[in-house]
Amino acid sequence: MQRAIQRVGVVGASGYSGAELLRLLAAHPEMEVAAATSREFAGRRIADVYPNLAVYGDMVYSELEGTGLGDLDVAFLALPHGESMALGARMAEGGARVVDFSADFRLRDPDAYPEWFGAPHAAPEWLGKWVYGLPEIHRDEIRGAALVANPGCYPTAALLALAPLVAGRLIDPATIVISAASGVSGAGRSPGAALHFAHVEGNLRAYGVPTHKHTPEIEQELSRLAAGAAAPEGAGAGAQGVTVTFVPHLVPMARGLLATCIADLSGGAPADLAALARAFWDGEPFVRVVDGLPETKYATASNLCLLGYAVDRRARRAIAVAAIDNLGKGAAGQALQNANLMLGLPETTGLGGAGVYP
Ligand SMILES: NC(=O)c1ccc[n+]([C@@H]2O[C@H](COP(=O)([O-])OP(=O)(O)OC[C@H]3O[C@@H](n4cnc5c(N)ncnc54)[C@H](OP(=O)(O)O)[C@@H]3O)[C@@H](O)[C@H]2O)c1
Repeated sequence: MQRAIQRVGVVGASGYSGAELLRLLAAHPEMEVAAATSREFAGRRIADVYPNLAVYGDMVYSELEGTGLGDLDVAFLALPHGESMALGARMAEGGARVVDFSADFRLRDPDAYPEWFGAPHAAPEWLGKWVYGLPEIHRDEIRGAALVANPGCYPTAALLALAPLVAGRLIDPATIVISAASGVSGAGRSPGAALHFAHVEGNLRAYGVPTHKHTPEIEQELSRLAAGAAAPEGAGAGAQGVTVTFVPHLVPMARGLLATCIADLSGGAPADLAALARAFWDGEPFVRVVDGLPETKYATASNLCLLGYAVDRRARRAIAVAAIDNLGKGAAGQALQNANLMLGLPETTGLGGAGVYP
């Protein structure tokens, strides 16, 4: 029997990650876009706002109000932080299937929202009811779930790089330092002085130090991983709470994200971390451990996470590097991977296997 085409909607479809999702959905054989919302461009053709999406023909953006989100098989919310809280809770109450791109439902601890986001959560009763959507770690929970909180771009890269080391008790999780860099599309499409071409071009800067909003998400998920592995001998952190130092940077490129994660080795230096990570991620369609170190260029426009490992034997530290496309595995690609799982479709449907190079 032929499977029915799934009707999906993208809320915030004029933003960078929403528009990237529209691009991916245009090639998805089992999904059709029934709604794409934008306040600014409501009534205008998607193809006029984004000429690369000419495939959408005469389809226009709609206002959120009046768009029948409840009739969809899946709704993707690609809204700025804070804007999904009330809508996501309302849709959850109505029994909708939702993938949320923001941090609004990623954290389990309600106290983390005032601390890291500057305001209390608007619907704390829903925290913990959304599955954290990193398929490589939470696939079984995502399969068939109705509510999925798509991970942040930096956490995706850092967690995929560090998971083999934390789960394998190869590093002391109390010593993790993550230095990462993202292209400018990570900040969304709204302009700002610090994102102006004249400022960004030829410039490199750290930001959000040491208070970046992705820090509690990384710590939450590393703590869960560490809890599944006994604390290494002499480790400074209990399985309960991993604390990391996270330093993001803005780099003058449109897309791409590199995370370099460094931690003390917990025992004798293993011979080959890459081989161990390769075995850990064996069978994962989107995670590849490369020979040497990964580069963002090879992940462009893909859902790939490329990983590389090194051991600094003098300092007795492990170094794990991850490269992703912030809009791909860091946002829209991963959201589609999650939606495939939620709907019982093959996980790789519509996601291709190869990046764009050069
Ligand atoms: N960019 C990335 O690389 C990336 C990676 C991972 C996760 N994310 C997350 O994905 C979400 C979207 O990010 P983005 O970079 O795509 O942002 P963006 O480019 O600023 O797009 C935001 C979208 O939301 C709409 N919007 C804004 N405020 C709204 C409101 N109050 N009600 C309804 N619609 C509203 C905007 O369109 P209108 O103003 O026309 O309505 C726009 O379509 C964020 O939560 C972000 O943290 C982004």
